[in-house]
Amino acid sequence: MNGNTQRINIGRDAFDVEAIRADFPALRQTVHGRALVFLDNAASAQKPFRVIDTVRQYYTDDYANVHRGLHYLSERASDAFEAARGKVRGFINAREDCEIVFVRGTTEAINLVAASFGQSHLKAGDEILITEMEHHSNIVPWQLLGERLGTVLKVAPVNDAGELLMDEFERLLGPRTRLVAVTHVSNALGTINPIERIIALAHAHGARVLIDGAQSVPHTAVDVQALDCDFYAFSGHKLYGPTGIGVLYGKRELLEAMPPYQGGGEMIREVSFTRTTYAELPHKFEAGTPHIVGAIGLGAAIDYLQEIGLEAIARHEDELLAYATARLQDIPGLRMVGTAARKAGIASFLLDGVHTHDVGTILDRHGVAVRAGHHCAMPLMTRFGVSGTTRASFALYNTRAEIDTLAGAIRHAQELFGR
Ligand code: ALA
Repeated sequence: MNGNTQRINIGRDAFDVEAIRADFPALRQTVHGRALVFLDNAASAQKPFRVIDTVRQYYTDDYANVHRGLHYLSERASDAFEAARGKVRGFINAREDCEIVFVRGTTEAINLVAASFGQSHLKAGDEILITEMEHHSNIVPWQLLGERLGTVLKVAPVNDAGELLMDEFERLLGPRTRLVAVTHVSNALGTINPIERIIALAHAHGARVLIDGAQSVPHTAVDVQALDCDFYAFSGHKLYGPTGIGVLYGKRELLEAMPPYQGGGEMIREVSFTRTTYAELPHKFEAGTPHIVGAIGLGAAIDYLQEIGLEAIARHEDELLAYATARLQDIPGLRMVGTAARKAGIASFLLDGVHTHDVGTILDRHGVAVRAGHHCAMPLMTRFGVSGTTRASFALYNTRAEIDTLAGAIRHAQELFGR
């Protein structure tokens, strides 16, 4: 372990952003001769030493395949892999470890539910209700399912602020609604959806609920038992963990009633050429060698975040968002896209007369990394009548000074390209 990780236990009243920044080696670099200002965290977050060192240590000293060997290293790797599952369980307060399925990321988690829950619980004419603000990964799997099964996709609209129209949502819930699949936080706008109410309404109509938590888990504490959601999906790489690892939470009774998603090693109990029986949860859904070190690295990321405290992180990011919103709204010719009353740390905007890609390029010259484009939410962009936006997204290591740099770089883009 790197020494840097030892002094991070700072508690909720002493959020020391400079100490946190020191834990992220990528933030030390310069880009085009300027200090890097990393504001593309909604796409993927940087990694702390805690994660980097853990991954390195496991590949260096502890590496072997899991659940297969009787030898020492395999047992140690298996223990660490299953301990990571336990950390994830605690992180989202699932009831049992077996409700935590390791997958590649949010996208695979949703595809797993579409394929497996779809096959076992849905039929032609059944309705799946999503919202206008979904990421493509919570749209396309349901369209693919519709092509296979004849299920029907319904879409609840948003208002001009980017908030879900709850009356419309409720109106679209009907006797044929079998599944509601909704993002917790919009990746393009930052809107926080009222998922407690969405889950309660869906359940009152007999529908199951999948929450896309890709953008929420890094910013807010999640309690799947209190929420009572049926499925919750998220990715490791936005949570300061490795890429290629993610989580599908599902209620045990539901996962048990669903068929395997993929076949192969690890997910079986017994195989013959005439009949195969499947392993217990969660292994039934984890065919093949898993991303062992990814899961262990995700466990390290969770340890790190829990030591700092999700509440302290949320408070810091709320302050950053308020500051950024005020600074950006001060810039003549800048229009915020997504002005919901409840937002997480995402500021999407348009600049009069300047293409979003040109904004992104000029910001990059200032060392400021943002995302420019449709953010994998093309239907939402269509709703707002734009082809894309420039998006700054904040993390626990960002500062007000970095937002000042962002604002200065935006003004420079206006001088170069604008009116
Ligand atoms: N879904 C990620 C984003 O919003 C990649 O940028």
